[in-house]
Amino acid sequence: MSFYRVIRMSFSYPGSAPVFNEVSFELDKNERIGFLGPNGSGKTTMARLMMGILKPVRGQVLLEGTPVSTMGLARVGKSVGFVFQNPDKQLFAPTVWEQVAFGVRMEKGALRERELDERVDYWLNFFELSDLKDRFPFYLSRGQKQRLVLAQVMARGADFFFMDEPTTGLDVLRLKKLDRCLEALKDSGRGYIIISHDRDFLKRHTQRLIHFAGNGMVKAL
Ligand SMILES: Nc1ncnc2c1ncn2[C@@H]1O[C@H](COP(=O)(O)OP(=O)(O)O)[C@@H](O)[C@H]1O
Ligand SMILES: [Mg+2]
Repeated sequence: MSFYRVIRMSFSYPGSAPVFNEVSFELDKNERIGFLGPNGSGKTTMARLMMGILKPVRGQVLLEGTPVSTMGLARVGKSVGFVFQNPDKQLFAPTVWEQVAFGVRMEKGALRERELDERVDYWLNFFELSDLKDRFPFYLSRGQKQRLVLAQVMARGADFFFMDEPTTGLDVLRLKKLDRCLEALKDSGRGYIIISHDRDFLKRHTQRLIHFAGNGMVKAL
């Protein structure tokens, strides 16, 4: 069974022209996919529909066979993580360490203190954030914030994640770091969707592209 199935799905924002018109595609849990298309073509909207934040007007989005629109964000969030285009909106903890620990506690309930420490430290190290663990998340650079949200998503055990426009505003050094982290996630067999209009970046990190044409149509190759 496919991890995600989008079936003849149509969507429009209230009072606006349709963003999608009977769009269908499927993907597996370990696939690395790029959403490519011009500004305003519906990439972010599709990700929101796949997280269940928005509901289709017609058709369905199934996650492991269940319509996401009936699951609730908490349940979708157990298997799927989301790194917003602006990660500021996802950061609230007093320290980098606490930010990652929060996700783990939420998902796993009361872990033994040592298990929690190990898990948080592992993912901070994985995303090259160990040196920043006592810092206030809000003051990190954009790239660091992005990797922090990724660390939180991974630490709570999500198998799949979305990243919306991750290269926007990254300098060469931060981009290299993100490259390394995505490479390592690939080696761990995790699937993801990266939304971007940077073809080179998508070429490096994805196996398959889904093209958003901007006329209500989506082409999965
Ligand atoms: N909250 C919203 N309310 C109404 N229209 C929206 C909203 N968000 C996005 N749109 C419109 O939906 C279309 C798709 O937008 P979006 O999904 O953000 O595209 P992309 O991520 O590919 O740039 C655009 O025409 C945009 O103006
Ligand atoms: Mg967008």
